[in-house]
Order: sequence, then structure tokens, then C-alpha cells
Amino acid sequence: MLYFRQQSFKNNIFVKNSKHIWLFVLVVSLFTLSCKHEPDDTANPEPPADECDTTLVTYNASVIPILQNNCYSCHSGTVPSAGLDLSNYDQLAFVAQNGSLMGAIKHEPGFTPMPDGLPKLSDCDINTLAKWISDTTFTDPDIGQECDPDTVYFQNEILPLLVSSCGVAGCHDPETAEDGVILTDYTSIMQTADVRPGNPEGSDLYEMITESDPDDRMPPPPNQPLNAEQIARIERWILQGALDNSCENNQCDTLNITFGEHIFPVIQNTCLGCHSGSVQSGGILLTNHSQIAEIAASGRLLGAIKHQNGYSPMPQNGARLNQCIITQFEKWISDGTPNN
Ligand code: HEC
Ligand code: HEC
Repeated sequence: MLYFRQQSFKNNIFVKNSKHIWLFVLVVSLFTLSCKHEPDDTANPEPPADECDTTLVTYNASVIPILQNNCYSCHSGTVPSAGLDLSNYDQLAFVAQNGSLMGAIKHEPGFTPMPDGLPKLSDCDINTLAKWISDTTFTDPDIGQECDPDTVYFQNEILPLLVSSCGVAGCHDPETAEDGVILTDYTSIMQTADVRPGNPEGSDLYEMITESDPDDRMPPPPNQPLNAEQIARIERWILQGALDNSCENNQCDTLNITFGEHIFPVIQNTCLGCHSGSVQSGGILLTNHSQIAEIAASGRLLGAIKHQNGYSPMPQNGARLNQCIITQFEKWISDGTPNN
């Protein structure tokens, strides 16, 4: 998203020359405005050490110093830890929004406690960051958008495919990070697979999946290569700006569910990477109708995708399938798992 914004910014300057002056005026006034908001040290003396003032929390005066003192040592520069550059506002906004920033600094279960290997931040610093996050409206125009059939959505269509085909243990999950490439979240995908918005040919991600030499192609044999439709979808997503977008289908068809139209595409995009060929995770193959119908009949398919007690939650390492898809699976199974 960052690269994309920079690109369109450039276009504005170079293509629309008449806007030159306006941009200049805008930039100058932004600078002047932001200067006025800088806290005045003499007017606002430092609060005593035992007090924590979170009434006036700003990014420049409150957030940057905390990150500078505690996080930039690892999370900035050319090779930031976890591919996360916290001196970059877009990346900071990303982890602020998705909860992992607070989870990490509050040492909540499921997050790696931060700062890594060092004492926990003071309560005041934690409260200050929490206040900033709750005060800030992080603009993400694409959340909750109705699905448009001409747009490829990262969260719905690209991430599940990459996680199941590539972001698995032993390959490009955060623990293995083969060749430094991590394919399990937007920020890592953009950075470690060098995705260049608008330019599939120049993006490592696209090069990896279209490589003609099987020794270099991803996913490597014995895994199946991505099929032509999946490759075209990734190409289209990059051409459309490689945004971190998502959409919701407000209409959920649960009446005429067919294996070919509703069930198999989901399996193909979110499960097959771990359940096909020689990769028989849990001893389970989901390559064709009869294998899927057999697992469905045992109750394990629904148990796994509904995250029921006693079953391993699926897709492993991925987000739960959305409710519409789960309802469609239930309907197909109650119809008797037809091969239609
Ligand atoms: C000494 C180096 C170091 C420092 C200092 C550090 N980090 Fe990290 N950070 C890491 C490493 C390494 C990882 C990857 C950990 C992993 O995946 O196991 C990471 C991961 C993270 C993640 C992702 C965590 C998750 O579980 O999703 C966040 C968010 C994060 N750091 C935020 C911070 C913040 C905020 C600070 C400062 C308060 C900070 N880090 C300071 C090294 C550091
Ligand atoms: C990242 C790899 C990965 C992905 C993606 C994945 N699985 Fe699995 N699956 C596994 C592993 C590993 C196991 C064995 C887990 C265990 O035994 O705890 C497993 C087990 C299962 C089981 C048996 C669960 C049980 O408790 O009996 C079912 C059913 C299943 N997967 C279905 C699916 C379906 C359906 C999808 C797609 C929606 C999917 N899996 C996506 C790795 C994956």
C-alpha cells in the first residue's frame, strides 16, 4: 500500500503540472501546522516521574520517543526484526490496528513479548501507546467493502492461497522463513517477497510462482505448482496495486450449493497446499471429491473448519473461514455431499 501511495503521489506531481503550486502550498502549510502542534517544553513541564499524563498523546511527541528508545534498535534500518519497520508509519499503523502491537507489549498470550528479551515497558509507556491507538482513526478505505467481482481482494483471495501453499512449516512460515521469505501476513509478503504494486514482472513473488525451472519454482516439487487461474489472480492483485484489501459478500447463497462452484474452490485455495500430493498433513488428502466426501462423512471436515472442541482447527495457521462459507459446507454435507 505504501509503495502504491508513493507512486500515485509521484504521478500527481509529474503528470498534473498545474497542481504543482497547490501541492507546494499544501506541503508548506502542513509543515507550519505541525510545528504549531509541537509541545512547548517551557509551558508543559515534565510531569513528575510517578504520574502519567495521557491527556495529550500525539504521534510525534509521545509515540515516536517510546519507539525510538525501545524498539527502533531492532525494528528499523535495512533488516528490521520480523520484517517490521516501526519507524515507517504505515507499518506501525498496521500492527497498531491488527492488535499485535498491544498484544506484544502487554505480553499477551499468542504474541511474542516485546521488546524482545528486554524488560517490559513501563505502565505509562503502555498506556500512552494504548491511548494513541484508541484516539487514532487509521484510514483503511477497504474494510467492510462489498465484494466487487472485478477486484482481487488480498484478505479473501490472496492471503489464504499463499498461507496454504507457501506459508507452511518448513517453508515460508515465520519460524522457517526459507531464504528470508515469509508469506503469512501482508507486511511480510510485501517486504520479503518484494512485491512491487503495479509491476508483477518486477515482483519476486510473481517470479517465484511463474519460474519455468522446476528447481526454482515455488511451491517446489513434489508440491503442485499454482494453477493458471491462481497465478492470474496474483498477477491481477499486483496490477491493481497490491493493496491490503478485503470485502464482504452481503449476499450468501446457501440454496444451490454445488461441489464444483462452492466447495472445491475453497479447498483449492485454503487447504490443498497442506493436504495434497506428498503433503498429507494429519494423514488427510483433499485432492478430489471422494476424498473430501469421506472426510466430510466422518464429521472431521466440519469439526475442523468450525473449530469445534476435539478437532484441530483448520485452516491451520490461517483465519477461520467466513460464516457464509461454513454455512455452504454444512448445506453441501446435509445434501449428502453430491459431486455436482
Ligand atoms: C532486541 C530486538 C527487539 C526489540 C528491542 C523489539 N523487538 Fe519486536 N520483534 C523482535 C523479533 C526478533 C521479532 C520476531 C519474534 C518472533 O516472531 O518470534 C519481533 C516481533 C515483533 C512483533 C510481532 C509480534 C507478534 O507476535 O505478532 C511486534 C508487534 C513487535 N515486535 C513490536 C515491538 C515493539 C512495539 C517494540 C518496542 C516496544 C519491539 N518490538 C522491540 C525483536 C525486537
Ligand atoms: C498450513 C497447513 C494446513 C492447512 C492450510 C490446512 N490444514 Fe488441515 N491439517 C494440517 C495438519 C498439520 C493437520 C494435522 C493436525 C493435527 O493432527 O493436529 C491437519 C488436520 C486436518 C483435519 C483433521 C482434523 C481432526 O482433528 O481430525 C482436517 C479435517 C483438515 N485438516 C481439513 C482441512 C481443511 C478443510 C482445510 C482448509 C479449509 C485445511 N485442513 C487446511 C495442516 C493444514
